[in-house]
Amino acid sequence: MQRPGCYSAVMNIANFSARRARLAQALRAAGGGIAVLPTAPVCARNADNDHPYRHDSHFHYLTGFDEPQAWLLLADSGEATLLCRAKDASREIWDGLRLGPQAAPAALGVNAAFDVEQLDAVMAEQLAKHPTVWFPFGLHTDMRSGLTSRLDEWLAGLRAQARNGVKCPTTQRDLTPLLADMRLHKDGDELATMRRAAAISAGAHARAMRFCAARFRAEPLGSVPEYEIEAELLHEFRRHGSQSPAYPSIVAAGANACVLHYAAGNTPLRAGELCLIDAGCELDGYASDITRTFPADGRFRAPQRDLYDIVLAAQAAAAAVTRPGARHRDAHHAAVRVLAQGMLDTGLLDREVDGNVDAVIETTAYRQFYMHGTGHWLGRDVHDVGEYLALGEAPAPQVDGAGQKSLTHPSRVLQPGMVVTLEPGLYVRPAAGVPEHFWNIGIRIEDDAVVTASGCELISRGVPVAADEIEALMRAD
Ligand code: GLY
Ligand code: MN
Ligand code: MN
Repeated sequence: MQRPGCYSAVMNIANFSARRARLAQALRAAGGGIAVLPTAPVCARNADNDHPYRHDSHFHYLTGFDEPQAWLLLADSGEATLLCRAKDASREIWDGLRLGPQAAPAALGVNAAFDVEQLDAVMAEQLAKHPTVWFPFGLHTDMRSGLTSRLDEWLAGLRAQARNGVKCPTTQRDLTPLLADMRLHKDGDELATMRRAAAISAGAHARAMRFCAARFRAEPLGSVPEYEIEAELLHEFRRHGSQSPAYPSIVAAGANACVLHYAAGNTPLRAGELCLIDAGCELDGYASDITRTFPADGRFRAPQRDLYDIVLAAQAAAAAVTRPGARHRDAHHAAVRVLAQGMLDTGLLDREVDGNVDAVIETTAYRQFYMHGTGHWLGRDVHDVGEYLALGEAPAPQVDGAGQKSLTHPSRVLQPGMVVTLEPGLYVRPAAGVPEHFWNIGIRIEDDAVVTASGCELISRGVPVAADEIEALMRAD
């Protein structure tokens, strides 16, 4: 049986201890103090049903512990204290085994553990020993009794005892930048899990393509509702051990692909249309994030193929500049240039009106068909933590995604072990002056890239991406 409180029976405790040691070192380097970190709250769904429980990403990164109602206190000495639910034979009959504070130190490598019912007393004792308390600002603000108000209560309790010589922290500091920076650089265990998550998701995309191909072979004039395709994805995720999708799956038939955050619904996908799937599983706390766009019946029509090849070329250009020493934003600039040129070549944009590719970029005319960024950090959260700007570098004039010019820091320099998505797209809504044969085509191609010593590795290529290869997969029985 899987150990209570832990996703994986083969969890490497030493890794979590090493992360806590690194965070303690970062605390010392930043002046010392104690870090306070709760896991995520249980969220009510309706009546007496809760949403499936999902731990807090920071908390799990440092503990590997996935039960609710748990707290980690980490002193700058490296001493780690866990608070968790006590063993409770009758509750465990209903809700499953609990690790309990007695077993926690051996199971998780923490120095001490207490019943979470003792939280107030343990906090008072620990906080009194440190002049600075660190916690993630703005975390779980939706909790009725958020972290900040709990801390306020504990600090007020200590302050009230000042006359008896009880000390109280005088400084509160945001833990998020320290943790985010650690999480941005993935260690070997993390990359191994992310590779497995990406492989499962790639298999799910390939399954969805085969499923559509088989349905349209059997019934060429039929249709397939988006929710049936979503069911194929979920089946594949779960049968390989993924705990859940990393984010709500986008399965968009035809024109729905032009809605960037469209959720799989009941629109029928018909022969001749494209299907855009943006879906990725979460495995042992790590996300994958893949988008493929394929023809429902396995054959790209000419206008679809024209735009598809432009998006694919844009992604190749983004991947080519994703390497150590490059900046995060370089991939976006490279993709935009290819997309903008493609818009001019296909007549989506009018050279007479919009000028050449430099003018299209300068005026941001390309945003009519490409209005989002080309990628984000990927890790425990699909839009993972990590600063996007090089805050240590002097501000310089920059242009943001909306064409706004401002004086801000350049984007961050990539280093090996960072993971980014590369996800260019083209979305053509009907509009005057836009060639009709492109109307309602929405295409995105997204892969997960690990920055390596010399470039990047696309870990999600277990599903074809070239148009010919997608067609070949969909032709095969
Ligand atoms: N699936 C969310 C994204 O691509 O950012
Ligand atoms: Mn995505
Ligand atoms: Mn993404």
